[in-house]
Amino acid sequence: MGSGVIAAVDSAGFKVAMRQLAATVTLVTTCEDGAWHGMPATAVTSVSVEPPSVLVCVNRSASMHGPVTRSRKLCVNLLAIQQADLCSDFGARPGTQRFGVGTWQAGPDGLPYIAEAAACLFCTVYDTFDYGTHTIFIAKVEHVLADATIEPLVYLAGQMGGFRPLGSA
Ligand SMILES: Cc1cc2nc3c(=O)[nH]c(=O)nc-3n(C[C@H](O)[C@H](O)[C@H](O)COP(=O)(O)O)c2cc1C
Repeated sequence: MGSGVIAAVDSAGFKVAMRQLAATVTLVTTCEDGAWHGMPATAVTSVSVEPPSVLVCVNRSASMHGPVTRSRKLCVNLLAIQQADLCSDFGARPGTQRFGVGTWQAGPDGLPYIAEAAACLFCTVYDTFDYGTHTIFIAKVEHVLADATIEPLVYLAGQMGGFRPLGSA
């Protein structure tokens, strides 16, 4: 149970609450003039089926913010449970060195994707909204690569792990 106290929000209280929000770990990538950029991201949500679209929240200080804003292309790589180390190594490296870990290939629009991921969404940015420190990219999914048998990598409470359905051992 919670503390039972509804408190005026501050950043610490907000962060404690958001640690309870589970998300699949993704590597969001873009390609600008043939150069690859990317970052780990969990602020990714399905928006609608018709048109198939997602939103991705990117901090304006992130190195890929400029490239994705200009190219208007992005790929959401939803990672598999075996790819936790890949995510950590990717985020720890600077710039294009990130693509030195994992087996990256060029997909539609030259977008970098990792074929062993649980799913890859190849998107065109439809609209953007700046809010606070972030830009919200509304992106139309143009192509998809997905394998429903692959278990996704989940991020919750600052940790990566798997999803355990109710009733399972
Ligand atoms: C698990 C995880 C999830 C993250 N989710 C986001 C996100 O949704 N949006 C965002 O802007 N940054 C997110 N970050 C932080 C960015 O990945 C990080 O700030 C980014 O790599 C920027 O670094 P750079 O400027 O060196 O590219 C996340 C980091 C981790 C480890």
